[in-house]
Amino acid sequence: MSYRVVVSQNIHPDAVGVLRSAGLEVVELGASAPAPRHVLERALVNADALVCLLTDRVDAGILSVASTLRVVANVAAGHDNIDVAAAKRAGVAVTNTPDVLTAATADLTMALLLAVARRVPEGDAHVRAGLYTEWTLEPPQTGLDVSGAAIGIVGLGRIGQAVARRAARGFDMPVVYAARRPAPAGLEREFGARRLPVDELLETSDFVTLHVPLTPQTRHLIDAAALARMKPTAVLVNTSRGALVDEAALVRALRDGVIAGAGLDVYEDEPRVHPGLLEQHRQVVLLPHIGSATRRTRRAMAMFAATSVVDVLVGRSTAHVVNPLFSAPASRPGPRGGGTGEGVRQAALPGLDRHGKRHGQR
Ligand code: DGY
Repeated sequence: MSYRVVVSQNIHPDAVGVLRSAGLEVVELGASAPAPRHVLERALVNADALVCLLTDRVDAGILSVASTLRVVANVAAGHDNIDVAAAKRAGVAVTNTPDVLTAATADLTMALLLAVARRVPEGDAHVRAGLYTEWTLEPPQTGLDVSGAAIGIVGLGRIGQAVARRAARGFDMPVVYAARRPAPAGLEREFGARRLPVDELLETSDFVTLHVPLTPQTRHLIDAAALARMKPTAVLVNTSRGALVDEAALVRALRDGVIAGAGLDVYEDEPRVHPGLLEQHRQVVLLPHIGSATRRTRRAMAMFAATSVVDVLVGRSTAHVVNPLFSAPASRPGPRGGGTGEGVRQAALPGLDRHGKRHGQR
């Protein structure tokens, strides 16, 4: 008997190909939006694996219905859409897709920072409205300096480091960071970075950018009090998760000039955007959660997730599991078709590594 994998929404066809050529039975719910809960629940009866997106909620209720599930592969680095602890209790591995999206997300972080500071969308709107009639020394879009300005990076994981590298090397920006643990000395030297408590980082940075996961501890990390610590000329950038920021407090801070601007790719209640943000055009740039949205990156994320499903079902330890399972509970049946991944063709991943690249390809 073969394994059944449910793919909750459309993903790159090459990734579906990886699942199929592994001999898996693939059930594609085939949409570009999350399926209604009852549809997902019905599909998951007898399923061994789920490939899902960050807009799919995989909570304890879903996991209890999906009693044969062994792996949930999120096509995202963040996994706050999944009840990871409940999955662990149920013996279900949760995998994510770090690394492959680091560069794209760091690039977009810099794009947002530059767009806010140099008022790129405002300039574009000005030209399109036919208002560019004469060059002046002090145009209405006169902005903030980026080169040499201080950047404060909250969270120095993969993406935080990639932003630090771009800021320090590309824009000569002094880097400070806040993190639970100090970065290895080599990294601090590479970026010339200094670790500071968050409050001090907020007080001293010209640009503050957030790169921590959303957890109960980080929800509203940037609230009214945190915003009040920032310089009135400072800009907040968020390409991580919207709920790191108290959006209502941010709207007030922007309206009252507590900070100068914001570049946001993510929102507290996506895809809803706080109306107070939509009203602000001056030094506020809003994007539709596209941090990793380049063609190569999105394909690589889907390939990574598909490969992770096969890895977990085969019993290979190469998937990026966010809730390592030390022992599966007795209540969860062994893999259908055997105990160690029989029924999954090993030839399934012809020359592809987890990044979707052919072996040897750079
Ligand atoms: C993630 O992976 O968590 C991003 O938000 C989407 O790429």
